[in-house]
Amino acid sequence: MLDANYIRDRIRTVPDWPQPGVQFRDITPLLQDRKSFRVLVDIFVHRYMDQQLDVVAGIDARGFILGAVVAYELNLGFVPIRKKGKLPFQTVSEDYELEYGSATVELHADACKSGDRVLLIDDLIATGGTLLAANRLLNRLGAQVVEAAVIVDLPELGGSRLIAQEQIPLFTVCQFD
Ligand code: PRP
Ligand code: ADE
Repeated sequence: MLDANYIRDRIRTVPDWPQPGVQFRDITPLLQDRKSFRVLVDIFVHRYMDQQLDVVAGIDARGFILGAVVAYELNLGFVPIRKKGKLPFQTVSEDYELEYGSATVELHADACKSGDRVLLIDDLIATGGTLLAANRLLNRLGAQVVEAAVIVDLPELGGSRLIAQEQIPLFTVCQFD
């Protein structure tokens, strides 16, 4: 709880960005400070260090920052789930809706093997569209998301409830109402 409040206090809220009505939860102050960045990474590393995992998948773009560092510390590989048109090799792709628009995510077709146990990392869950699309991509390759893990949950936007309905385990460090 101490850690959760410590992390939450270092997230900046920017009103009306990127469009009117959105309270944007900005994690850059948390990353910028060496102590809070370390506390953040350690929360994830300690949670997963004794789990049987094959790979960490991180979601474009903010999920890359935390996901790659956590993968490194867990001595695992990292696979990027990217916005449409960025991956050069053969891909699988899924469309989804966002709090402020719609998008498509893609994953290289050889990023995971059937049966792989995946830790899926992003910075934040809002409507849940992104995490659910990422989960569908991994499932299409036969991989299993052992847990989806994010820094921030925005429960009022319903994403964490949808993830629970899909029976995907979810870890969140802190919440904003
Ligand atoms: C943000 C955030 C999550 C997603 C959450 O990414 O980093 O990936 O939205 O929203 P959802 O739960 O409603 O799907 P964004 O698409 O803004 O991209 P970015 O990381 O490149 O800023
Ligand atoms: N992604 C979707 N909604 C968001 C929000 N309110 N703040 C930061 N990232 C987001």
